[in-house]
Amino acid sequence: MGVKTPVASVQYGINKVRMDAVYGRHKTAGEFKSLGGVVSVEKHERGIVITSENGSVRLTVIAPDCIQVRFQESGTFGVPFSYAVARVSWPDVKFTLGEGDDAFTLAAPEITCVVDRSTSRLTFRNAQGNIIARDAEPIRWREGEMQLVRELPADEQSYGLAAQPVGLNLRGKRYELWNTDPVIYSRDRIPIYYTIPFYLGVTSNFAHGLFWDNPSRGWIDIGAEEQDRLMFSGASGELRYYVFSGLDVISVLNRYTELTGRMPLPPMWALGFHLSRWSYTPADKVREIATTLRKRNIPCDAIYLDIDYMDGFRCFTWDREKFPAPAVLLSELADQGFKVVAILDPGIKADPDYKVYESGLREDVFLKLPNGKPFVGPVWAGNSVFPDFTSPKARAWWAAQFDPVIKPGIAGIWNDMNEPTVFSAAGGNEIPEYVKHDFEGQNLTHLEAHNLYGMLMARASREALEKMKPGKRPFNITRAAHAGAQRYASTWTGDNQATWDHLRLSISMVLNSGLSGLAFNGPDVSGFSGNADAELYTRWIQLGAMLPFFRVHKANDTVPHEPWVYGQPYEDIIRKYINLRYQLLPYLYSLFAQNSQNGWPIIRPLFMADPKDPKLRGVEDMFMVGDSLLVAPVLEKGQTERELYLPRGKWFDYYTNMPIQGGQILTVKTPLDMMPLFARAGQVIPQWPVQQYVGQTPVDELHLKVYAGNGEVTLYEDAGEGMEYQSGGYRWLYFTCKLLPTGGVQLDWRRAGKYRPSYERVRCEVFGIQIEPKEVQLDGQAAPLWYFEKGVVEFTANKPFDNARIIDPDVDDTPSTTLMHSPFK
Ligand code: GLC
Repeated sequence: MGVKTPVASVQYGINKVRMDAVYGRHKTAGEFKSLGGVVSVEKHERGIVITSENGSVRLTVIAPDCIQVRFQESGTFGVPFSYAVARVSWPDVKFTLGEGDDAFTLAAPEITCVVDRSTSRLTFRNAQGNIIARDAEPIRWREGEMQLVRELPADEQSYGLAAQPVGLNLRGKRYELWNTDPVIYSRDRIPIYYTIPFYLGVTSNFAHGLFWDNPSRGWIDIGAEEQDRLMFSGASGELRYYVFSGLDVISVLNRYTELTGRMPLPPMWALGFHLSRWSYTPADKVREIATTLRKRNIPCDAIYLDIDYMDGFRCFTWDREKFPAPAVLLSELADQGFKVVAILDPGIKADPDYKVYESGLREDVFLKLPNGKPFVGPVWAGNSVFPDFTSPKARAWWAAQFDPVIKPGIAGIWNDMNEPTVFSAAGGNEIPEYVKHDFEGQNLTHLEAHNLYGMLMARASREALEKMKPGKRPFNITRAAHAGAQRYASTWTGDNQATWDHLRLSISMVLNSGLSGLAFNGPDVSGFSGNADAELYTRWIQLGAMLPFFRVHKANDTVPHEPWVYGQPYEDIIRKYINLRYQLLPYLYSLFAQNSQNGWPIIRPLFMADPKDPKLRGVEDMFMVGDSLLVAPVLEKGQTERELYLPRGKWFDYYTNMPIQGGQILTVKTPLDMMPLFARAGQVIPQWPVQQYVGQTPVDELHLKVYAGNGEVTLYEDAGEGMEYQSGGYRWLYFTCKLLPTGGVQLDWRRAGKYRPSYERVRCEVFGIQIEPKEVQLDGQAAPLWYFEKGVVEFTANKPFDNARIIDPDVDDTPSTTLMHSPFK
């Protein structure tokens, strides 16, 4: 997007053609070979090696519900190396081997692999005996390519692969695995910035996952070439994948993120509202934005500095004309409660007078062509060189450059253009695949390293933040990513457009990102490219307020898009939804904590609320925030009412607190100030008072919204910043809400952990009480003061209680259950 250094990119295009002629492009050649029949099977300590006529497959039981598959033509298996995998040593799992006339079997407690004797095809079954994955063809390969071809049953829905701009179900398309800057994408543009080769297959009765642990160029075809085939292809390296068998999506994601790692808990301010633009410049513009936010009482935690804060787009420098005193600016902003996030691109301007370039050359950290010369390609700053983030030395060098950015007071890092992108007038805005990489001493090429580049840049930036800000939780966001990137950074959905269709796309993109391990994700609210009118902007803020990452960001050729520019009634509505975001922070934060512990997504497709209901399977215009809150955003211009199918069970209108029976289609009014929200019966949603930024004042009251019904809820609390939570400074809150057989509602509250929050007082509102109760008891004593009005019982306790009982009202006892598993049982 923007001016693409035209001269340099034309020159680069010409050079690239020359270089390609000298070094050659990656090619595939020859006929496919395939395994052939099984010749012998040998046991190893965690599984078996199958020697077939033309190659070998090694099956390893990783966990009770996970098997790793590796293929080598040579039959020799070394120690596998993967940047994506976080856990390499696993507790022992009991497994058994079987041999029949037609097949060999490797059985772990919750997954079984059957190897067909005559073809070496693999079939995986779950603990219930269902086939979860079956080879349609044996593994096959030829020069420069290897393939896995699986059956794709008609009733299997396909998710994962991070945020693809295609809708929720990924079936029917081929996804290239090659991180690419699409320069503003449109619907169905594949590939974009990230490759997360994690496939999640879901049927009515079970879910399974397949992680293709190969970072090289490749593709995943989900029923595009052949409707009933799921195919994976990779250009280089070992064919290696993991199959996960879970009862449901939650258990598959739990295991997948145990393998590839989970998001460390971010600082709570990262969950607030963020305001960004390419670019807020000069310094006084940033001041004006900050002051206006505070003056107009629009809560905001972070402001972003895009590339124009730099001196001629040189990373780790400041434009001293526009930002003469960064430390002064940043301390003023800090006094107003703002964090500032600064962008960094990987391209380092090839300029002999630029210290960063000179030091990188001296320390030999830049990518090289096969002839040993640094690879040069144009980006914003013109011709640039690129750190080799696959080298520990280069990552350390990168981290050592951070002083000029971090010391003046930058709070977080925004890693951009790290697919990596170079501007080429001849198309193909990428570093060529023959460029050399250290790859932790393995000396590989960009063909294998390209898809890892963005993740490893984010890793280096995170390591820098950890080093330079001891005791603080890093905030680090990256555009490009590979599987496992959740360990290092959050992500956003890149350069989207200010259209109603992109508003809609943000839902499925963020959902699939969460179904691929990258839960902390969100779109550029109001669309990066193009101008959003007041209505689209307002609707996007409403939706964005419910997504894990909540940032407005706009391209440099757009008109101002700050929350106040549209005037009334828009500004008040926008404020109302940003306020709601801040009220919901303790709830959202608990979901982040659960993601960080278990890999559960923060927002979830509706089908997860009731996996057995086929009507929910394809829904992509509504979603759940955690287990308690259902969001039905308005996605069409001028829409004053919308239809929705509410999942079965009992729900409450979040605004009127009136109970509603699910399992039916409703029509709800959607005037501009209304984005429908529903709370599930049996749930407890905690709220805080609105603050202008996280930590503005100590929270002195916890507000619990209790939705009468049967359910369990787990919440989390800690200081919201700092590392004390890693040494016991946290607590979990467990709520059990019950409808009493004699009538009435009981709420039990257990707390575990040593963290003590700033509040003591707890205000409870219990919804769904039809007639005035006889009594409200708190820990067995009559509550001193309570109110009943319009179906709501309200009371305040001076400190957290263990048990509250609302005695003998007439409560509808339609059962409602919590469908998530609790990890604490
Ligand atoms: C890329 C980023 C965008 C940023 C711009 C300028 O297009 O995706 O967010 O504003 O570069 O740095």
